[in-house]
Amino acid sequence: MLTKAPRGTKDLFGDEMNAWLEMENIIRDLCRDFSYGEIRTPIFEHTELFQRGVGETTDIVQKEMYSFQDKKGRNITLKPEGTAGAVRSYIEQKMYAGIQPTRLYYITPAFRYEKPQAGRMRQFHQFGIELLGSDSPTADVEVITVAFELLKRMGITKVKLHINSLGGPECRKKYNEKLKEYLKDNLNNLCETCRDRFERNPLRILDCKNESCSVIVSNAPTVLDVLGDECRSHFEQVKALLDEMGISYIVDTGIVRGLDYYTKTVFEFISTDIGAQGTICGGGRYNNLVEELGGQATAAVGFAVGLERLMMVAEAENGKKEYAQYKDIFIGSIGDAAILKAHSLIYKLRQAGIIAEGDHFNRSVKAQMKYADKIGARYSMIIGEDEINKGKALLKNMNTKEEIEVSFLDLVNTMKSIL
Ligand code: HAM
Repeated sequence: MLTKAPRGTKDLFGDEMNAWLEMENIIRDLCRDFSYGEIRTPIFEHTELFQRGVGETTDIVQKEMYSFQDKKGRNITLKPEGTAGAVRSYIEQKMYAGIQPTRLYYITPAFRYEKPQAGRMRQFHQFGIELLGSDSPTADVEVITVAFELLKRMGITKVKLHINSLGGPECRKKYNEKLKEYLKDNLNNLCETCRDRFERNPLRILDCKNESCSVIVSNAPTVLDVLGDECRSHFEQVKALLDEMGISYIVDTGIVRGLDYYTKTVFEFISTDIGAQGTICGGGRYNNLVEELGGQATAAVGFAVGLERLMMVAEAENGKKEYAQYKDIFIGSIGDAAILKAHSLIYKLRQAGIIAEGDHFNRSVKAQMKYADKIGARYSMIIGEDEINKGKALLKNMNTKEEIEVSFLDLVNTMKSIL
């Protein structure tokens, strides 16, 4: 146990970490281009925030939250997603009083007690964006284009955009009645969870992975059948703008999302390349959440991408990346005085932004040079007593083996000019 990370978690280091940093750079550049500013909210929040925000009837709240009481008996939960915290902060920090819309993004760990498998973790990471303050279909599409552009910049092509509309509260009410009417004769054939959902949240039955439930709902009426004029026109405008931008999509009435806060447009980007956990990105409009959490009624739309899944899809399509290691210079040393000189020069070089390394093991010169090779040093220098007396040493180009004599005082400038 002591040397085993908890189930469903993962250490990131080495080349995999390098690939993650590259992915995060792509995300940060993307958010700059689309004017989204970073927000960092706490890893834990009051449990009530998620119960209210994500929804009491969702799997997340019912089964998957990492909740505990702190030493003062407060109910605390590790965030299972990023939206509720971002919205809490939007209200608390009065972001609505600034220039609108508010555009936020986050890269955050998230925690769900799920059964781990490839692409499904207990601690995973989300990149998400939230656009608050506008109910325009153009905002829905802006948000979709951020995800679309991310996939493009990651070199991912084997992904499809699925969109649907869940309508507003009125349409949902009408739909719930219609769906219940359709399901009522088949109630006994639904799984236990769906029988429970029948009264509390019938829409979620459409998302059940249980074979007999999916057969039953395959011919169910869809929300699109009952959309009111405003929601219908909103959805039509979203589609028209996607068409105009040349972004292809599938209207998929099975996309109902696993969180309760959605209204109108919902969407997912689903990989055709990796197996069961193919949903890389999910999101949509949530016009009632800000008010539900105690703010003024505010329209909003956003999405989150699972970074583990994004990386899996990128690697499935383009292969794992290898990162060559290199250093600008290795400075070796023989003897006590030389050790001091070498390490103080290394510090000077590092201060000037030159990647320098030295010996920490009292290795032989031969072993030090072997190490210089291993770490990909482009230049090397060995300092001994002679060199200290002269105040100079030979600087060797490790590739051409050419050597030039350089005074210690000139080393930083010489390195700067040759790199
Ligand atoms: P979500 O669909 O629950 O939406 O999660 C978004 C993405 O997080 C998923 O598509 C998936 O890639 C990733 N994900 C979820 N659970 C796991 C897991 N256990 N292991 C690995 N990856 C996972 C939300 O969280 C919403 N907050 C999205 C949103 C933002 N809607 C509006 N704004």
